[in-house]
Amino acid sequence: MRAMTQDAYGVPEEVLRPTDVEKPTAKPGEVLVRVAAAAVSGSDWHILRGLPYAARPVVGLRRPRNRVPGLELAGTVEAVGPGVTTVRTGDEVFGWCSGAFCEYVAVPADQVTAKPANLTPEQAAAVPIAGFTALQAVRDAGRVRAGQEVLVLGASGCVGTYAVQLAKHYGAEVTAVCGAAKAEMVAELGADHVLDYAAGPLTASGFDVVLDLYGNPSLRTLKRLLEPGGTVALVGGTGGRWFMGTDRWLRALVAAPFLGIKARPLVHKDRLDDLVLLRDLIEAGAVKPVLDRTYPLADAAAAIEDVRRGRVRGHAVVTP
Ligand SMILES: NC(=O)c1ccc[n+]([C@@H]2O[C@H](COP(=O)([O-])OP(=O)(O)OC[C@H]3O[C@@H](n4cnc5c(N)ncnc54)[C@H](OP(=O)(O)O)[C@@H]3O)[C@@H](O)[C@H]2O)c1
Repeated sequence: MRAMTQDAYGVPEEVLRPTDVEKPTAKPGEVLVRVAAAAVSGSDWHILRGLPYAARPVVGLRRPRNRVPGLELAGTVEAVGPGVTTVRTGDEVFGWCSGAFCEYVAVPADQVTAKPANLTPEQAAAVPIAGFTALQAVRDAGRVRAGQEVLVLGASGCVGTYAVQLAKHYGAEVTAVCGAAKAEMVAELGADHVLDYAAGPLTASGFDVVLDLYGNPSLRTLKRLLEPGGTVALVGGTGGRWFMGTDRWLRALVAAPFLGIKARPLVHKDRLDDLVLLRDLIEAGAVKPVLDRTYPLADAAAAIEDVRRGRVRGHAVVTP
């Protein structure tokens, strides 16, 4: 079967190659999924580059441990392994995995579930990881409640488009920060106010919760943005090949009590119960994925670069 593979770390167009690899089989507890679509996210770029270096013990010291990138998918169950009772052959599913940039992938059965009935497979593939991150940022790290003022930094990205909708779902008044070109799209997702990050330093204040998905605001800026006792959910970061901004999280954690704010870092967890919750919210019309572009599998490197450079509104997927 066809797969995109990488045998070294580097820029996507240099290290990602179409390759014929052996079709997997479903082992006990696994399902074999025929991939209809696999989402492309910033994480794919990081894994291809082997960045941050601090993650290499996990992803592979000198070369990637997994040859096939791609972490989330939607598709059809082709076969189920012994002991699998939760899904059946022919079911349309979505979920997370290791190695989605290919035609077939074997996935633990508890990492997939029925896809939302009102989504195409391409849309459904764009839900799992960005959806988990946004949900856990809003519900768990931010603990957003009805009536709160919430600021979403990086609102037009993969995670941010869900975070805006979920913060609205939990009853907040949402101020979204993104580039001017995507402001209209973010307003359509329900943001009450949209600010352009290029228009100058943020002067707003009085937020109960800041969802820091992108932008690296200084501690002083966070203190000014937040109400006393307010919460910053630390989700994303940029800069530094070793830690990619997560060292800033540590500084925020140490400084927060002295600044009179709460800092809660988030490393999202892939959870089936949250995938089911996201499906319910999508089927109820409370949340929708923003799918901008679909690329053939062979163009996965271009897709990753486009996502990396902010040329995509919301999500891109590849289709084998
Ligand atoms: N903690 C976790 O478990 C976890 C999980 C997944 C992702 N993440 C992290 O979360 C962050 C967001 O991920 P994503 O996939 O949503 O990224 P993304 O799709 O690339 O979106 C990036 C967002 O940041 C905005 N942005 C770009 N340049 C900016 C600037 N100079 N100032 C302020 N905002 C700027 C973009 O706005 P425009 O496109 O409108 O310019 C866009 O809204 C990343 O740092 C990622 O590594 C964390």
